[in-house]
This record gives sequence, structure tokens and C-alpha cells, in this order.
Amino acid sequence: MSNILEIRNVTKIYPDMPRPALENVSLSLEKGQVLSIIGPSGSGKSTLMRCCTQLEKCTSGEIEICGIPLGKSKEDDRKALLKTSLVFQNFNLFPHFTVKRNITEAQVKVLKRSKEEASRIADELLKRIGLYDKKDTYPCYLSGGQAQRVSIARSLAVSPEIMFFDEPTSALDPELTGEVLKIIKDLALAKMTMVIITHEMRFAHDVSDKVVFLENGHVLVEGKSDEVLGEALTNERVRKFISSLG
Ligand SMILES: Nc1ncnc2c1ncn2[C@@H]1O[C@H](COP(=O)(O)OP(=O)(O)O)[C@@H](O)[C@H]1O
Ligand SMILES: [Mg+2]
Repeated sequence: MSNILEIRNVTKIYPDMPRPALENVSLSLEKGQVLSIIGPSGSGKSTLMRCCTQLEKCTSGEIEICGIPLGKSKEDDRKALLKTSLVFQNFNLFPHFTVKRNITEAQVKVLKRSKEEASRIADELLKRIGLYDKKDTYPCYLSGGQAQRVSIARSLAVSPEIMFFDEPTSALDPELTGEVLKIIKDLALAKMTMVIITHEMRFAHDVSDKVVFLENGHVLVEGKSDEVLGEALTNERVRKFISSLG
């Protein structure tokens, strides 16, 4: 069995915080699987994702991406970084680049693809997300839903082995979340390995193989999507959290 992501006993301590942001968290994810991380604000969801994508270093424990351990050597870290990509809540598109250049930039600068190939891949992705006609537009002229779709295309363009999404629809007006969730669902159908932090419980239920509930830096519940979010849910704390979302 090939695990794309392996997290073992990860603890993260921020110096100015009285308790660890994460304590002894262990998780794994196989190729083609989708994991959703749910839980209240401050439970450590983003910290875990930031440790996996090297925006933070964990204090102790181990993380492996495609079998490559993080934090051991610069060379390995660089290799692992190329296998991951992160989609943020607030899109983080480059405002001074066109939509298309947002998608070609890392392909050329980081992956050293030719301009022609990067352009071909960008066009393909733009068609896939239904925004080819916006390719020469600047991000400020896009709706939030369109901007997030472009940001997903930008992430896909570097051919990651695993994609991370940190609340990809939280900054969107409710009527725009559907178009973004649809793209992520299509990726799941295409067997992209993904870790998704979300408060969209129906979506999480439908798209995930596994769901993890974090609280106070601990994994409180972990299981198959149906066990954590479906009829079979027995954990009172998780049930309360889900009903609090309305
Ligand atoms: N850079 C940081 N420095 C200090 N504390 C932080 C930092 N980032 C997050 N925290 C704290 O760590 C805890 C977990 O935060 P976070 O991972 O953002 O939670 P979540 O994404 O579940 O809302 C919170 O108490 C938060 O205040
Ligand atoms: Mg967060």
C-alpha cells in the first residue's frame, strides 16, 4: 500500500501558546484518497496543513510526503514541496498577473517547463474549470468563485501528487460555493489525492474517504466518511459540532 501522506505523532508548539497547537497527531492517506479535516476554530486544522506543506515546522514527530521525510534535508524538502500544493481560503492569486500567467508562472519558474508547454497546460486547465474566456483578465475582475477556480487550476498546473485545501469556500458568498465544490468533486472522481479542511459537511460526507475531527490539537474521531458524518455517528461531541453549523 503506498501512502502519499504519513503523519506520525506530530506535535506543534507555538512559543506564545499555553498548550500545544497539535499533540501527537497521526494520520495517513493512500494515493487517490480524500481526507476531510473538520473541527472547531482553533483546533489546529490549519497548523496541521501548514506543517504538511512546509509553511511551518513541527516541533516533534514525522511527516512523509510520498515517502520523503520532511525537515531532514534541504534536498528532500525541496522534492517533497514539488509534490504538494495548497489552495488558500483567500485565493492568493498574483494581482498583477493575468489569469493565464497566474497558471503558467510556477510551471516556468519552478518546474522549468517551456513557455509553450506551460501555455498549453494552462489553456487545458482553463477549459476544464470553464474559464478559458477569462484567460487575459486580471484577478480583480473575477468573482470570488471564479478566483478560487483559477487558484485551483494554478495548483493543478504544477502536477502535485497531493493537494491541500484550507477552507476553500469560506471566503465565498454562499451562492458561489457550489461551483468551487463541483471542481473539487471532479478532482476526487479523477482520483486526485486531497486533504480538505471544510465546514461544508454534506460535501465532506460525499467527497471523502476518511474524515478526521480535531479538537484542541488532538484527533478526537477518525473514520470512514459514513462513520463520522453519516447515520453511524455515535460521538456526541462531533454530533453537537455538526448541528452547531446548522
Ligand atoms: N503562528 C502562530 N503563532 C502562535 N499561535 C498560533 C499561530 N498559528 C496558530 N496559532 C494558534 O494555534 C491554534 C490552532 O490554530 P489553527 O491551526 O489556525 O486552527 P484552525 O485552523 O483549526 O482554526 C490556535 O489557538 C491559534 O491561535
Ligand atoms: Mg484554519
